[in-house]
Amino acid sequence: MTDVEAGRVYRGNLTRLIDKVRNERGFDLGQYRQAYVERRVASRLRSLDLHSYRQYVDYLDGHPDEYGELLNILTINVTDFYRDSPVYDIFRRRIVPDMLDEKLRRRNRMIRAWSAGCATGQEPYSMTMSFLDGMAGHTESFLLSVTGTDLDPKALAIAQAATYDIDKLSHIPKTHQVKYIEMDGSVFHIKPEVTKHVRFRQMNLFEDRPVSMYDVIFCRNVFIYFTREQQERILDTFWSALSRGGYLVLGRSEKLAPSVAARLELVDGRERIYRKPIRP
Ligand SMILES: C[S@@+](CC[C@H](N)C(=O)[O-])C[C@H]1O[C@@H](n2cnc3c(N)ncnc32)[C@H](O)[C@@H]1O
Repeated sequence: MTDVEAGRVYRGNLTRLIDKVRNERGFDLGQYRQAYVERRVASRLRSLDLHSYRQYVDYLDGHPDEYGELLNILTINVTDFYRDSPVYDIFRRRIVPDMLDEKLRRRNRMIRAWSAGCATGQEPYSMTMSFLDGMAGHTESFLLSVTGTDLDPKALAIAQAATYDIDKLSHIPKTHQVKYIEMDGSVFHIKPEVTKHVRFRQMNLFEDRPVSMYDVIFCRNVFIYFTREQQERILDTFWSALSRGGYLVLGRSEKLAPSVAARLELVDGRERIYRKPIRP
């Protein structure tokens, strides 16, 4: 039986693989949950017909392009427009109006949002369409800026192009299709009135720190794969990057570390929406 088929953890070998990728490419696989790395690498080994981590380490020596593949299998880009759509309903109906009231009260026109781990862009575009809808009639009064970041440059290139296959269209509510989508044969484009608010940047959540303060941060279906220590560190980064009264939206299977939960107000438990208190 091989390492992988046996489902056993050959810690030494996996550590060698982790060390190799860190030394050669500066990327730390050790920040992902071990079971997750094992599962993903096992599936890659199966498709290469390799039988141990050690063979894979040797394979990397002979095939440097494989580092890119390794990154690909670890960065699962699965996403959808309006994924878990109730979040966007709450966002449009409740969060955006509250946020705009607060902004008007403070005479602050700038609205900044961040989609951390945005994959191929569906999340930041869904956020932006929801923002524009929730701002109905007041769009000109505010300066909306949405940043999508991800580790994976290929996913970001798709996001930047803002062109998607027609089979992705059904996830977008009809009213938003009419306003924000332009059909083009078997694909569709997100209209410039949406894309002009969105920019994309490569960012490794393990290393890089955001430069702006945000009114809302979406980070969904990203850090479930990270070690507990990384999750806590990243949540702490989000807390620091949120402006007072700013919102943090997590994925349904993502939990707040208790140390961060104690500092945030719960807005919606089911949809994992939290808010940084307005007063310290
Ligand atoms: C499953 S997608 C989630 C997309 C979107 N947030 C959603 O919920 O539909 C996870 C994304 O996290 C990104 N990711 C994984 N590790 C990362 C890291 N260390 N830094 C930044 N992004 C990372 C992957 O490239 C992938 O695009």
